[in-house]
Amino acid sequence: MADATWTAVDEYVAGLLAPHDEVLEAALRDSEDAGLPAIQVSPAQGKLLYLLAKSIGAEQILEFGTLGGYSTIWLGRALPAGGRLITLEAEPCNAEVAARNIARAGLVDLVDLRVGPALDRLPQLEAEGAGPFDLTFIDADKIHTPDYFAWALDHSRPGSLIVSDNVVRFGRLADPDSDDPSIPAQRRLHEMLAAEPRVEATTIQTVGAMGYDGFNIALVRA
Ligand SMILES: C[S@@+](CC[C@H](N)C(=O)[O-])C[C@H]1O[C@@H](n2cnc3c(N)ncnc32)[C@H](O)[C@@H]1O
Repeated sequence: MADATWTAVDEYVAGLLAPHDEVLEAALRDSEDAGLPAIQVSPAQGKLLYLLAKSIGAEQILEFGTLGGYSTIWLGRALPAGGRLITLEAEPCNAEVAARNIARAGLVDLVDLRVGPALDRLPQLEAEGAGPFDLTFIDADKIHTPDYFAWALDHSRPGSLIVSDNVVRFGRLADPDSDDPSIPAQRRLHEMLAAEPRVEATTIQTVGAMGYDGFNIALVRA
């Protein structure tokens, strides 16, 4: 459960620094109307993704987990003309909502939405020679975060960023005996990161309207 103070601060910050426009509001409204769960990133996190992509001049972005396209819109808005964002979504009904939201955002030329379980879609991306990706955002089924990370790392370049969301899970990350099925995967991700000479990484705990969680950010070494 989100603490009322965390929510109030999230709303205060978002109101000033990550304000919604009609397109983002409509994306959330249509997602809710279609029955999608409200598990998208917060406005402040969306703005962070946008800032990260802008700060490295990202032209090629990969996203695991589209839902209704909310984070896709934040990331897509950071792309220059001619850039490309490939976003992978398992559920066709989610993808339908996302496609409409992406179109409303005027991002059809930049966003390539692929439908199906991400691990099944990756061989096709490989065959197409997709990447290297300047930024990857991992936010799909949490048990596969380490698999998505490994693939993203192999399809990155020096200086690329890989951001993995929901790695702290109410603090369960620190509990090796947690009964949360996603925790072994999040711990495996951290062990991979610690042993991986190609990246430098850290995890930041977050609180806000979505509760207590956190994200990992990895920089691919030069
Ligand atoms: C947390 S939501 C993504 C939220 C979105 N990134 C945002 O912030 O607006 C996770 C999404 O991953 C999708 N998903 C679950 N398993 C998947 C898989 N194996 N491959 C691709 N997408 C998957 C779910 O259907 C859901 O839409």
